[in-house]
Amino acid sequence: MPMSAVPHVSSGGIIATYGAYLPRVGPAAVVTLREGGTPLIEARAVSEAVREAEAAAQTETTGAVGPAEALEAVESSGRPRGSGTLRSPAGAGTSGTPGLRVYLKYEGLNPTGSFKDRGMAYAVSRAREAGYRVAVCASTGNTSASAAAYCARAGIRSVVVIPEAAIAAGKLAQAVAHGAVVVAVRGNFDQALAVVRDLVSRHRIALLNSLNPDRIEGQKTAAFEVCDQLGGRAPDYLAIPVGNAGNITAYWKGFCEYRERGKVTSVPRMLGFQAAGAAPIVEGRPIERPQTIATAIRIGNPASWKGAVAARDESGGVIDSVTDDEILNACRLLAAREGVLVEPASAASVAGVLKLARQGYFRGQRGATVVCVLTGHGLKDPDAMMRLGSSPIVAEADTASVEAALAAAGTPLD
Ligand code: F0G
Repeated sequence: MPMSAVPHVSSGGIIATYGAYLPRVGPAAVVTLREGGTPLIEARAVSEAVREAEAAAQTETTGAVGPAEALEAVESSGRPRGSGTLRSPAGAGTSGTPGLRVYLKYEGLNPTGSFKDRGMAYAVSRAREAGYRVAVCASTGNTSASAAAYCARAGIRSVVVIPEAAIAAGKLAQAVAHGAVVVAVRGNFDQALAVVRDLVSRHRIALLNSLNPDRIEGQKTAAFEVCDQLGGRAPDYLAIPVGNAGNITAYWKGFCEYRERGKVTSVPRMLGFQAAGAAPIVEGRPIERPQTIATAIRIGNPASWKGAVAARDESGGVIDSVTDDEILNACRLLAAREGVLVEPASAASVAGVLKLARQGYFRGQRGATVVCVLTGHGLKDPDAMMRLGSSPIVAEADTASVEAALAAAGTPLD
């Protein structure tokens, strides 16, 4: 399918669209803000950057091989290899061969600005059906924003526990505005989650973290949507940021179920990316004091660790880390070249694909489809967005001053 012809999946909400794939919830209990139906966007600039990264890798290390496992997989998968003469719809790149086709699944366009709304719609609907009056979650920001909104709509009181001074301004503002009771603990996300687990064991309150399987159920619909938008086929690779690891677990569940139901014939390799200062799965040990500019994925001991490892191993994929610089560069590429604004954590998927391309990981995979999941909107984190470009130029309020200021800044108008 040409890249320009990606259909938009209309959504009356994930339960209306994919209810047949979810344990039943009574219509009267359904809470929805018409989440889901987010666009799958062709990414020419990212595709081009991947080609450049691969070309650079090739010149630097002529004859070098990618990860042995990946190469072996290419040999055995029988996926088409490019002849070097085909032209990709994205146009020939610097290397003169068609590269990967990169698409962006822009989950930041969900009602509260992050992917969390899918799982939250379903989990809050189930909590409402079960008669819960209070719900709780720990969060690096997006879960709390989504929980607060869906609980507000459901008439359930929400309590959110966040790490103090460690969540982006927009997310905190959302939780506050939707009327959540916000508790900022002097500790990190992992400690906040431990408190929340304890709270739900002591009181009859609904848990809205992805430890609640209902969150994973609702979230898996994103994988269905990606396949539907690609015209009934799974991508070859799915790149995704990893924090608490619920999302990668849910996507993998969704892809596997769609294959079982005969909706697709293959499943993607799962490529998960943690921030380098918060990469417990990559390092194989919990990180006590995780650090990264991508506050959403500043997590040292993911609750769904096993799910992430299973997704990686069962799909023949990779979980790797990306540095804060790589994350910010990917964020800037998306904002300045694709016109797509995402918060730093989201850009880990694109940063990771570029890193693997530089290592020659995709060699031989010409024309393969990569979907990068962009988990949260850039407006969530205005401080981080300001770091992507230059600060405003201040000038007097007359034309000559503005022209002079632009000339001084090296921006001629003719
Ligand atoms: N991207 C964003 C924007 C996130 O908010 C999160 C997680 C992730 C990626 C990672 O997803 O945890 O399923 O592996 N945010 C959670 C929260 C932890 O509390 O909002 P994950």
